Amino acid sequence: MKFFIDTANLAQIKEAQDLGILDGVTTNPSLMAKEGITGRDNILKHYVDICNIVDGDVSAEVIATDFDGMVKEGEQLASLHEQIVVKIPVIKDGIKAIKYFTDNGIRTNCTLVFSAGQALLAAKAGATYVSPFIGRLDDISSDGLNLIADIRLIYDNYGYETQILAASVRHAMHIIDCAKLGADVMTGPLSSIVGLLKHPLTDIGLAQFLADYNKGN
Ligand code: E4P
Repeated sequence: MKFFIDTANLAQIKEAQDLGILDGVTTNPSLMAKEGITGRDNILKHYVDICNIVDGDVSAEVIATDFDGMVKEGEQLASLHEQIVVKIPVIKDGIKAIKYFTDNGIRTNCTLVFSAGQALLAAKAGATYVSPFIGRLDDISSDGLNLIADIRLIYDNYGYETQILAASVRHAMHIIDCAKLGADVMTGPLSSIVGLLKHPLTDIGLAQFLADYNKGN
């Protein structure tokens, strides 16, 4: 399972990269704004800064919502760095744009996916990644993990190569459940990744080992 970090915070991206387990980064306009990155030039520069920290794929989202605008913007984003994957919303023109990019060798991440039907269209258009937002479904008392299971089943039925990128991950258990269901990738905050390390018996055991060592030294 690939681990992406879902942030535009350079310090957190570096921390995850330094752990040695990071496979990529996802961003979105809200995450950029949260870091105070505004204005087209600053945003483009920030994508390059992220690419220079991490070894893997970096999703960069288009703002345009029409086909021509998405193509123009996506081509500009893709030309910034070879690690950039163009992130496109699952709307009608978005599906057309994903097909265009697929045909032109530009990798895409189909975002804001909340149903199996949307994921099916993304795969048919040749998206590299599809991003079902599990946390936001949970937020409205729907079952985010069930969507991951449905998409896995559908993609496996037909051999679609689009990678399931479980997004809107909120905590460590989401990551475990997505791994059980066969998501190809998960993207979450640093807290969810380091949350995987937490276990009280590890803390107790380590404290005991150190105490016993210190008795004889
Ligand atoms: C995915 O690529 C999105 O950036 C993200 O996972 C959304 O997560 P949120 O629901 O926590 O905002």
